[in-house]
Amino acid sequence: MDRRHFMAQAVAAGTGIAAASSAGAAAQRPVRIVGVSCSPRKGKTTATAIQVALDAAKAVDSRIKTELIDLGGLSISGTGGGATSAEAKPIEDDFEIEVLPSLKNPVPDGLIIGSPSYFRSMSALCKAFLERIAVLREPKLLLADCPVGVLSVGAYRNGGQELVIQEIQTAMLCHEVMVVGGKPRAHQGATLWNAYKDDIMQDEFGIETARQLGIRVAEAALKLTP
Ligand SMILES: Cc1cc2nc3c(=O)[nH]c(=O)nc-3n(C[C@H](O)[C@H](O)[C@H](O)COP(=O)(O)O)c2cc1C
Repeated sequence: MDRRHFMAQAVAAGTGIAAASSAGAAAQRPVRIVGVSCSPRKGKTTATAIQVALDAAKAVDSRIKTELIDLGGLSISGTGGGATSAEAKPIEDDFEIEVLPSLKNPVPDGLIIGSPSYFRSMSALCKAFLERIAVLREPKLLLADCPVGVLSVGAYRNGGQELVIQEIQTAMLCHEVMVVGGKPRAHQGATLWNAYKDDIMQDEFGIETARQLGIRVAEAALKLTP
């Protein structure tokens, strides 16, 4: 049963999602949360922040399994064109082999996407990633109702992180996902400040927002996963 059918059944039965969840407790499967770091710099501040969020998500419940996809160092170009995303021409690059399988087979139960702020906007790599996951919309909305949380890292305290988060959230709404923020202090998503020469763990406030984001995505994924 996919997320959308699960929710429809819960509502139709008048039971609510929590009751539907507990009814299926005996057969509960793992809840898989995938993080995607969209910095071209592998393993740097964005990837670290995503890992912090994933670790916090994992600590919420033993059902949660996590996976980090670090796009750093991968060669991923934007869409191959076409009048609509459905008509995009296939491209052979790292996306097909290194990224797509983790998002399609199986589809994640929760997603955390992160990008550095580049000129107060998402990275080009992030934009390319968002264009290429159009394949998850056609012919069926595979990510429908998937909870998605977003984070951004900037070199300045107010370097456009919330703008980047909003851009990514807006793009993901085209998948009919459930956009979630974080717990208090991270209501829009996680905002981190790379003020310590790439040692992002020293940004205590930002790291806490990443943790709160991970917890929120985990809680939503647990509610929405059959
Ligand atoms: C081309 C470029 C543009 C940037 N523009 C901004 C910006 O507008 N605001 C900001 O706070 N930081 C900006 N930065 C800094 C990065 O967001 C910051 O170093 C971030 O931690 C990089 O993420 P990473 O460590 O995952 O690569 C820029 C960096 C680059 C390379």
